[in-house]
Amino acid sequence: MKKWSWMVLVMSVFLTAGIALASSGHGHKDPKKVGILLVAFGSSEASAQVSFENIDKKVKAAYPSIPVRWAYTSHIIREKLAKQGKQLDSPEVALAKMLDEKFTHVAVQSLHTIGGAEYHDLRKTVGAFKSMDGFQKVILGYPLMATQKDMERTVDAILATLPKKREKNEAVVLMGHGTHHPSNAFYAALMFQLQLKDSNIFVGTVEGYPDVELIKSMMLKKKIKKAYLVPFMSVAGDHAKNDMAGDEEDSWQSIFTQAGIKCVPILKGTAEFAEFVDIWVDHVGGPLGHF
Ligand code: CO
Repeated sequence: MKKWSWMVLVMSVFLTAGIALASSGHGHKDPKKVGILLVAFGSSEASAQVSFENIDKKVKAAYPSIPVRWAYTSHIIREKLAKQGKQLDSPEVALAKMLDEKFTHVAVQSLHTIGGAEYHDLRKTVGAFKSMDGFQKVILGYPLMATQKDMERTVDAILATLPKKREKNEAVVLMGHGTHHPSNAFYAALMFQLQLKDSNIFVGTVEGYPDVELIKSMMLKKKIKKAYLVPFMSVAGDHAKNDMAGDEEDSWQSIFTQAGIKCVPILKGTAEFAEFVDIWVDHVGGPLGHF
């Protein structure tokens, strides 16, 4: 063996031993301390705070003895808010702080809608903390829609929170975010399951499939004259205000209006309704059940 490779070997042994010693607290196990880390994409819109506060309240009510922390996955939004003097943690920073505060078991709860790119990035972060000799357990909970049961609960939540009195030629268009991630298929699956109950409910996305043109053609085929536009995102933020209900000619409202469909935007995020929040809150029970 060459001299340098010995040195690398010796150094890595020392490093591993050092990390193990530091985290094991000289051999004794730290007392069990359970925490919840809620992770949202984030929003720079002040109105989005309603959604976050609502979730915070519900999680604390469901698990009153467990401390709750927050983290936000969007770098852009964290930077934007930092300029306004609001320091928000990334999941990495929040987990490091919780390690520092001697939490031993952490339920990381994704507040994303589907298991898309943001969710899988979060899964990688949680995985890194798992493989580190720090927490005894750190587990990620499912986003809003993961299992078939989640899909059914989401369908029920949507039906329960939509305007009830609608004529035959009136529709509801939900605006999902959409993603290049394979999980984008959830949106079309959701529309299929919604339409089994009400064929005038459509699900489109800003950045994925189904897109706005497809939804427009589906509505025209059904001779829809009026559509409620509803964000299918946890907060009614920038996408809802601008891409959905904005004045620009490429907003959904403008595109549908051009096609002769009267639009009624409803600017409320899913996290403002108990029906949806309950699903996320129940998902926290997944990781907690393993502690
Ligand atoms: Co976006």
